[in-house]
Amino acid sequence: MAPFTPHCVLVTGGAGFIGSNLVRWLLEHAPDLRVINLDLLTYAGNLESLSDVTTRHGASGDRRYGFVRGDITDLRLVRGLLRDGLQGGRGAPPVPPPDAVVHLAAESHVDRSIMGPAVFVDTNVRGTLTLLEACRAELAERPRPFRFVHVSTDEVYGSLGPGDPPFTEATSLAPNSPYAASKAAADLLVRAYVETFGVPAVTTRCSNNYGPFQFPEKLIPLMITRALADQPLPVYGDGMNVRDWIHVDDHAEALWAVLTRGATGRVYNIGGESEVPNLEIVRTILRALRKPESLIQFVNDRPGHDRRYAMDITRIRTELGWTPRRRLVDGLPATVEWYLTHREWWERVLNEAYRAANALYLEGRA
Ligand code: NAD
Ligand code: TYD
Repeated sequence: MAPFTPHCVLVTGGAGFIGSNLVRWLLEHAPDLRVINLDLLTYAGNLESLSDVTTRHGASGDRRYGFVRGDITDLRLVRGLLRDGLQGGRGAPPVPPPDAVVHLAAESHVDRSIMGPAVFVDTNVRGTLTLLEACRAELAERPRPFRFVHVSTDEVYGSLGPGDPPFTEATSLAPNSPYAASKAAADLLVRAYVETFGVPAVTTRCSNNYGPFQFPEKLIPLMITRALADQPLPVYGDGMNVRDWIHVDDHAEALWAVLTRGATGRVYNIGGESEVPNLEIVRTILRALRKPESLIQFVNDRPGHDRRYAMDITRIRTELGWTPRRRLVDGLPATVEWYLTHREWWERVLNEAYRAANALYLEGRA
């Protein structure tokens, strides 16, 4: 199959952890590509994660990048972006109508989904539906080569026991948290829009990402930032839950492979082939920071806590030639180092983000 060559990608959630790393990766690796980043800037979105990108590729750079603050549930806004791109004006550069969407915008934290599931349905389910509907309508009016990449998670498959084989794309969906359920619902809507309306969509399901610019509520940055402050490290249950870890740059590279060479209607698992119990991650971080293990505090388990995730990545490896390249033994210390040298980023994120989050939740969106 001939590769698909996108000219302009609409990235949703580009100010989040994976989104900001992906936007940077795309602009570096695809020299002719333009990127529009649509992000609501919730507590998890942060334009400071993209300040280098804005300088290099925004209005005063090579003009390949533009940002729009907005909600993926806003159909008018999304339809306008797909139809017109960015018009420019007030010194901002025009960016042409996108011929691809890479959809990452989401509420992404399991613990928050347990405290307040409604916003997860709103953003992850209704937001995905809105994007699909906007693409369907746009392509009906102005047919053109197009791809929609829906970025999903291994969590839709549920939980594995210690001896179970890894998840394949044929594994049944069995989500256990409201977060996972909302992502699974979105996956099924994507499938329905492919089958019913012929929207050229592909779904990816990836395991746990780590790397720079991850919000310090997720395991790795939470443990690093708390250990640096000599605060207790809350390990859920017995600490023996297993996650498969992948460096965020490997995920970005996999998304590019899927965008340019993936078959529409297909699902691709993405993983790091790196299964590690949580306690081992926490101990490695403590060793890297020369902090004592006495900081570890076992706390009540997360309700519905999935025991183990593992991904079979045969399909993406054999069909698209992608394979994870960064090893956790190198990537985890490098990530610890990144948080050590970017204190300003995470200290500000923690202060400002939590204030903004509270405002958002008080406004009744959650
Ligand atoms: P994140 O929470 O860091 O970022 C999410 C981004 O989406 C934020 O910038 C936020 O402002 C934006 N957003 C939220 N609601 C929005 C809305 N209504 N409209 C527009 N923008 C909105 O998340 P992440 O960890 O970068 O994850 C990105 C995507 O990848 C998610 O879809 C997630 O389900 C998926 N995923 C994440 C992982 C992981 O390990 N982090 C693994 C597999 C899949
Ligand atoms: P997390 O980073 O929230 O990702 P996910 O739940 O989507 O896999 O959590 C990773 C693992 O770490 C998960 O098994 C829960 C555990 N965990 C803790 O033990 N303590 C914590 O404070 C957090 C945030 C997570």
